[in-house]
Amino acid sequence: MEPVLELKNLTKRLGNNNAVDDLSFTVNPGEVFGLLGPNGAGKTTTIRMIVGLISKTKGDVLINGTNMYEDFKKAMSDVGAIVENPEMYKFLSGYQNLLHFARMSQTEISKERINEVVKQVELEESIHKKVKTYSLGMRQRLGVAQAILHRPSLLILDEPTNGLDPQGIRDFRDYLRNLTKEGIAVMVSSHLLSEMQQMCDRVAIIQEGKLINISTIDEFSNEPNEGTLVHFEVDDAEKAQNLLAEQGSKIVKGQLQVMTKKENIPAMNETLVQGGVKIYGITSKNQSLEDKFLQITKAGEK
Ligand SMILES: Nc1ncnc2c1ncn2[C@@H]1O[C@H](COP(=O)(O)OP(=O)(O)O)[C@@H](O)[C@H]1O
Ligand SMILES: [Mg+2]
Repeated sequence: MEPVLELKNLTKRLGNNNAVDDLSFTVNPGEVFGLLGPNGAGKTTTIRMIVGLISKTKGDVLINGTNMYEDFKKAMSDVGAIVENPEMYKFLSGYQNLLHFARMSQTEISKERINEVVKQVELEESIHKKVKTYSLGMRQRLGVAQAILHRPSLLILDEPTNGLDPQGIRDFRDYLRNLTKEGIAVMVSSHLLSEMQQMCDRVAIIQEGKLINISTIDEFSNEPNEGTLVHFEVDDAEKAQNLLAEQGSKIVKGQLQVMTKKENIPAMNETLVQGGVKIYGITSKNQSLEDKFLQITKAGEK
């Protein structure tokens, strides 16, 4: 399967720093791909390069195999994006706005296509009302409708859920799903992990312009290799710590703490019991996704 988008060592120098630093990843057809990172991580700069709003310092961007620096027009014909606030005429209806953009488009866009897109973003009921009466969520959907009019295979949205309430975010996720069912790949950026978790199939974490981690949301949510944090409530923490020293045990607030896989707990328990340690309780806690995100971005700071 050929990726819809491929970044190869993409780099952007701004001032004395690399705002985007040697970034490489691919986005596949039909997936919702998340670009996750704290403010200033380089998400917008990356997106602005992909859509050709700013030049690159180094690297390449391929859209369906076409290098955008070799054939910009062909590459961009497959891309739809909302980077800045999409320009809309508030005193015209949503439909009139779409009609206007259709007329300006490089490709021929029929009225049937406009109606199809309106349906896809579920704006049928309000499409003939003036845009100034729209909620933020509705404006966002009109922006998406506008961005996909020319049937791109990649839709890019920079922080699309900014300002949306939880219900708005859920609705947004649902209609992004509808788009991907038709094979469109979607790339969204956000600084909020919980939103990415709700919306994406895969997430790339970036920090100071660099790729820190890339994984599916499932891989992200499941128990990591290092395992769960296990607490042994014991009568003699020092003795217990010596018995499990090889397993990397630590004493935290007078209790024994080990980072391990769940399947190792019985053997550790046995070692402690045989060593004469009394155990009053064992608790284990999987790291939450939020914990891991913080851990990953902290590691990136070093
Ligand atoms: N025009 C500019 N000149 C110098 N530095 C910039 C400019 N635009 C952005 N930056 C810097 O580039 C980095 C990445 O910014 P940005 O891509 O906007 O991050 P994000 O979208 O992830 O919040 C930040 O450190 C920001 O300060
Ligand atoms: Mg940004």
